[in-house]
Amino acid sequence: MSIHTEKVAKKVTLTTIAKMKGVEPITMVTAYDALFAKLFDGHVDMILVGDSLNMSFLGKDDTLSATIDQMIYHTQAVCNGASLPLIVLDMPFGSYTNEIEAVKNATRAYQETNAQAVKIEGGKERAHIVKALSQNSIAVLGHIGLMPQFLRSDGGYKIRGKDKTDIASLVEDAKALEAAGAFAIVVEGVKSEAAKAITDAITIPTIGIGAGLDCDGQVLVWSDMFGFFEDFKPKFVKQYFDGAKLVRENIDKYSAEVKSKQFPSEEYTY
Ligand code: KIV
Repeated sequence: MSIHTEKVAKKVTLTTIAKMKGVEPITMVTAYDALFAKLFDGHVDMILVGDSLNMSFLGKDDTLSATIDQMIYHTQAVCNGASLPLIVLDMPFGSYTNEIEAVKNATRAYQETNAQAVKIEGGKERAHIVKALSQNSIAVLGHIGLMPQFLRSDGGYKIRGKDKTDIASLVEDAKALEAAGAFAIVVEGVKSEAAKAITDAITIPTIGIGAGLDCDGQVLVWSDMFGFFEDFKPKFVKQYFDGAKLVRENIDKYSAEVKSKQFPSEEYTY
C-alpha cells in the first residue's frame, strides 16, 4: 500500500522519508516565502528553503553570498506557510567551515525556525561536519555531485559521474555521509548511471536534481519549474508553465486598464 496518496495528508517526518526509499518516490520543491509554501503545503513531501534564493529571489549571480540570517528569515516564512511537508533549511556557504561553526549555525536554524533538518554540500571531506551535527541531534540532508557552493573553486558548474573513477568517488561520498548520520542525500547534476550506483549503494534515500529517474525522489527549484526564472535554464528543468509570460501578459492588461480608466470599474468600487 502506498504511504501517500497524491495529496500528502499527514505531517511528513524523518521516519516517513526513510520509509519511502524503494517504496514511493519522494517529492521535494524549493520555497522561499509563506505565499508559495502555502500553495505547496500538502502537495509535496519536502520543502527545501534553498540558498538558490540568493539568485532567484535576491537577483545575485550565484549562491555564495547567502547568509545564515537570510536563510533563517526565509525559513521562518516558509514554516509560517506550510505545516505538512518536511522543511529543510539550506546552510549557506561559509556557515559550516568547521564543526563548531556548523553546530552553532545549525542550532540557530533549529531554535529560530521550525525546520526539521538542514542541508550541507560536500562529500567525504564534509562527513565530519555531518557527524558533528547528527551527534548534536540536528538532522542533515547531504548534497553531492554538482555543488553550487563549489562553483568558484571548481571553475564552473560541472556534471559529475562521467567515468568509473568519478562514479566510485561519488559512491564513497554517499557512503561517508550515510555513515556520518545523514538522513538522505541530494544528488545534483550527475549522469544517471552514477545516480543509480549511488542510490543502490546506500540505505538512505537519494533525491535527484538533474540526476535521472533512478533516485529515490526528485527536487526542483520552484521558480525554474514554473518559468519565472529566465536568466538560464538547465537541461534538467522541466518548465510546467510559463510563469513569466503569464505575469507579463497580466501586468500589461492591468496597466492598459488603468491607463484607459477601465479599472476600477463599478464592481471594484465601494
Ligand atoms: O539551493 C537549492 O535550491 C538547492 C537545490 C538545487 C537542491 O540546493
